[in-house]
Amino acid sequence: MLVEKHFAVIGDPIGHSLSPVMHRAAFKAKGIEAEYQRFRVSPERLKEAVEGLVSLGFDGWNVTLPHKEKIIPFLHELTPEAEKAGAVNTVRVDHGKLTGHNTDGLGFVRSIEEDTSGLAAGKDSRSHGKYAVILGAGGAAKGIALALADRGLKLHILNRTAGKAEELAGLVRARGGEASWAELVPGAWLGQADLIVQTTSVGLKGEKFLFSLQGINPQALVVDIIFRPAETLFLKEAKSYGCRTLNGLGMLLHQGVLAWEYWLGEQAPVAEMWTALTKAVAAD
Ligand code: ATR
Repeated sequence: MLVEKHFAVIGDPIGHSLSPVMHRAAFKAKGIEAEYQRFRVSPERLKEAVEGLVSLGFDGWNVTLPHKEKIIPFLHELTPEAEKAGAVNTVRVDHGKLTGHNTDGLGFVRSIEEDTSGLAAGKDSRSHGKYAVILGAGGAAKGIALALADRGLKLHILNRTAGKAEELAGLVRARGGEASWAELVPGAWLGQADLIVQTTSVGLKGEKFLFSLQGINPQALVVDIIFRPAETLFLKEAKSYGCRTLNGLGMLLHQGVLAWEYWLGEQAPVAEMWTALTKAVAAD
């Protein structure tokens, strides 16, 4: 069978990326002859890799760590979303012109708007918190913070290295949002937050969170962007206080859905992509 479209994901490391599984499921469901590969690209070979992908006729690719910012000089144009985030997770090739786009922020917002732990569950108005607390101030936190501020949420950003929280809060404010910042320690914010988003790498190895969540608002929606393990000890504790919780798999799904739609110009088969993702995670 003739493969008509070519897509990929580039990053380093890349071995555990679930993007191929999710995108292949989407192509299959839509009967589109396309392939989606993953390539490990070291930072020093990024420029050559981009040129190679273009030479080989790729129609687009996803970009993951550590290339989301470093790829920008090799692109011709950025969408407003990529411009705003200062990072690219999706590239589209149109007649040799490379456009960088970013679907991480909106993907996160969609994942909290729609409870993806059961797509049938539908909208949940409780997820539209007025006061959002973001734990961490790295690349992932930045995309999420800007997207939430765009939606009119008031942010409080906490980070171990307080200077980075200050910097991110400054960026949010410079873009018209509301944000305060502090060092990552427990405080009154626990009881006040409508939405708490855990973006640090703490919990990836199954370890305990940095402090107890005692005093947490039981009405809060608590999100951990980690999805392996499926339930971090942080989420488990939040759940024990009665909070509704969500891991990062919904964010992964929706950034992928938005990327797919950006490339293909048609609605993505969300349910099939979600099934593929959950099956792949369960088989891990
Ligand atoms: P990503 O792009 O995935 O967000 P990152 O930019 O490396 O990754 O950010 C990692 C985040 O996890 C940072 O907020 C980091 O805090 P620092 O800025 O202080 O380094 C946070 N982090 C990682 N390990 C941590 C730990 N043991 N305790 C507290 N925060 C931690």
